[in-house]
Amino acid sequence: AEDGYDLWLRYRPLPAAQRPEPRTIAPGADTPTLKIARAELQRGLGGLVGGAPSPDSPSILLGTPAGSPAVAALNLPLKGAGDEGYLIRTVGKTTVIAGNSDIGVLYGVFHYLRLVQTGQGVDTLDILSAPKVKHRLLNHWDNLNGSVERGYAGASLWDWWKLPDYKDPRYVDYARANASIGINGAVLNNVNAKADSLTAPYIAKAAALAEVFRPYGIKVYLSARFSAPIEIGGLKTADPLDPAVRAFWKAKADEIYKAIPDFGGFLVKANSEGQPGPQDYGRTHVDGANMLADAVGPHGGIVMWRAFVYSHEQPDDRAKQGYGEFKPFDGQFRDNVIVQVKNGAIDFQPREPFHPLFGAMPKTNLGMEFQITKEYLGFATHLVYLGPLYEETLKSDTYAKGQGSTVAKVVDGTLDGRSQTLMAGVANIGRDRNWSGSQFDQANWYVFGRLAWDPEASTKDIAADWARMTFSTDPRFVQPAVAMMMGSREAAVDYMTPLGLHHQMGRSHHYGPGPWVSGGERADWTSVYYAKAGKDGIGFDRTAAGSNAVAQYAPVVAQRFSDLKTVDEKDLLWFHHLPWTYRLRSGQTLWDGLVTHYSRGVSYVDGMGRTWADLAPYVDPERHAQVADFLAIQRNEAQWWRDASIAYFQTFSGLPLPAGEAAPP
Ligand code: GCU
Repeated sequence: AEDGYDLWLRYRPLPAAQRPEPRTIAPGADTPTLKIARAELQRGLGGLVGGAPSPDSPSILLGTPAGSPAVAALNLPLKGAGDEGYLIRTVGKTTVIAGNSDIGVLYGVFHYLRLVQTGQGVDTLDILSAPKVKHRLLNHWDNLNGSVERGYAGASLWDWWKLPDYKDPRYVDYARANASIGINGAVLNNVNAKADSLTAPYIAKAAALAEVFRPYGIKVYLSARFSAPIEIGGLKTADPLDPAVRAFWKAKADEIYKAIPDFGGFLVKANSEGQPGPQDYGRTHVDGANMLADAVGPHGGIVMWRAFVYSHEQPDDRAKQGYGEFKPFDGQFRDNVIVQVKNGAIDFQPREPFHPLFGAMPKTNLGMEFQITKEYLGFATHLVYLGPLYEETLKSDTYAKGQGSTVAKVVDGTLDGRSQTLMAGVANIGRDRNWSGSQFDQANWYVFGRLAWDPEASTKDIAADWARMTFSTDPRFVQPAVAMMMGSREAAVDYMTPLGLHHQMGRSHHYGPGPWVSGGERADWTSVYYAKAGKDGIGFDRTAAGSNAVAQYAPVVAQRFSDLKTVDEKDLLWFHHLPWTYRLRSGQTLWDGLVTHYSRGVSYVDGMGRTWADLAPYVDPERHAQVADFLAIQRNEAQWWRDASIAYFQTFSGLPLPAGEAAPP
């Protein structure tokens, strides 16, 4: 059935005009990874191209110089390929796909197949590619009971009950999909971790998964609960300076590495949202992170220590808390610690300015954490392609070392010459047949992987690759589908949180509008949620006159955000509290402009519905119908967002709607 299970690796026959000649595949070394690489080529070319190659058909040669005399004889310039990259080169009638490692070759095979699959010529190739980021990880927020925190694609893929004895074949499909986009690590369990995940039975389960993933180049990691020494170690404390606690973690690391020799390391959420951490003992994030780093370090492991720390009892602007806690520690973390920072300072909103920690800790490994699952973006039914959100953050200029100090350059380590680099994405994967909860959410998994490989890649080009691979190479499909995807995130911003508004979603579930904050006040939510709407106006003043969060950015950036003449209107109400009658650059008042944005978001979704209807001839009926039905849900909910937001804010503005705008029911 066309249910989306095949993701972007569909390998259906190409239209005749796009089909290259059949090719033979030269025999070569039979390592586990190279076997997979050859099988993938056979599967891909068999499906896409078909036909039997003849003795004088062109051929494909795969391998590493170390493992293949034929590859070695070509003396290829493989230096730039590094540990995981590849070179694809046409030499006479042979296409060589070579790497310094087997996994590099497998990545090269997937790149080659992508070229075939997207209908690009493969007759003369000369491509050198290497990942710019070392650790390209999915973070699964999967609980041991099978539920997934903020997961909208069914239950957890990991069948903890049947592991380690039964390894669901789906684990292979998962690993293969990740390898096809260069993802090389998976944190298996939720950051809100249970200590059980570190007990012997669960280590054995994780080891079984690691065994399946290994030939696909994917390492397994675990989220570690900081208080585990108490819960499963029989200790009275988890104080990171206590020798017994340090010994517990050392022994735990040794135990894990015995079962999983290439275990990646730990991810830790500490002293945030009620989770335990070193501060419970009067110690610091550095004490906690370095203790764990010392435990896994001798085995080559890393610790990803999250900077998403805030206390809801803290009345200060929540946007300032992560920077406030971490910036002073720059230079104090071990080399195998990576501080994992969310893209923005609040929480995966439809739009946030980049997190001020990027660029602010040059002597610390800083990793990016994006959310792939759409917690604040309509869950699985809303069609929102996240490529532009990721790209906007990565292209933001921190000015940390003058112009051009982009977030991408912090993340890929080039700005500060760092090599322990990381991009993590909170996975949107579950047991649904289509993996991600919707057909189009697969694109978010896909673009995340491609950007982790190259944070400077164009997310429009990536959308085009994805659309061609997933649906059709017909330009009459690709062009409108990509255009629709590229505008979809801005549409969600428009109907949910226009002009810099944020955190207007229903409380705790985060689905649908809830700017009125039901369920009582919270210190960090201040007077009226983050919109701070009142008779006098709307918006969060983060200038020097307000919370002064702007001061956490480099002076040029702080200045630009602070000044109404230079701040991008997309971020206006993130940084400023303004009267309802404030004049936008368009000449509209702020109130009229807000209403216009909400309505624009709704019309965009309407437009997506029409575009998608027109694309029916290019898509199988099953997937077409599901997308169409979801777009109808999104259309209704965009309207709900618009109407609810306008009705609520109008109680403060007291102003009429601009001409032509329908009043909320
Ligand atoms: C958000 C999300 C939580 C999650 C947290 C985190 O607040 O709603 O479910 O635990 O982020 O990233 O730790």
